[in-house]
Amino acid sequence: MPRMAIRPIVTLGDPRLRMPGREITRFDRELATLIDDMIETMDDAPGVGLAAQQVGVDLRVCVMRVDDRLYEVVNPVIAHRSGEEAAWEGCLSVPGFRAWRLRAEHAVMTGRDRNGRNVTVSGHGELARAIQHEFDHLHGEIYIDGLPKDQEILTEDQLDQRLREEARARRPKPGFRLRKVRLPGIDD
Ligand code: NI
Repeated sequence: MPRMAIRPIVTLGDPRLRMPGREITRFDRELATLIDDMIETMDDAPGVGLAAQQVGVDLRVCVMRVDDRLYEVVNPVIAHRSGEEAAWEGCLSVPGFRAWRLRAEHAVMTGRDRNGRNVTVSGHGELARAIQHEFDHLHGEIYIDGLPKDQEILTEDQLDQRLREEARARRPKPGFRLRKVRLPGIDD
């Protein structure tokens, strides 16, 4: 069995990030190696999710690790979205930045595992966010694409400062969450 390997993460500006993923038809050793490498790369970063495009591969497969649970989904579709939740979101392919992004609070992703067996990932909050974020990657989209024009994108330092100031003022804006969410590649 091939040894797992950390692959370089593709970052914003690289056209490989914009490739729509092709449907996977062969559940072979090559796919297993890709998935193992993606898990290794995600955990090393560390991040909560990684899509094939982020390692330069134009296939529809993503991995996620949320609350110590590992998920791998081949040819995923989003079967359900409901509710709304805004939070600061980041991406391993856009290192050092975060944006305030509205997502469905609950999402269900269905697809297959590396062996072709059906899998369902149902999640709220952070897992729902990861499901939607990774799904978008598989279609060549990045989380900052869907932002309203006036939406802020902050550097990590700016966000840290903002959260400190908000905590000091003790009167957060409506809907503003003081809880700092764990985000891909940004929080250890
Ligand atoms: Ni991402």
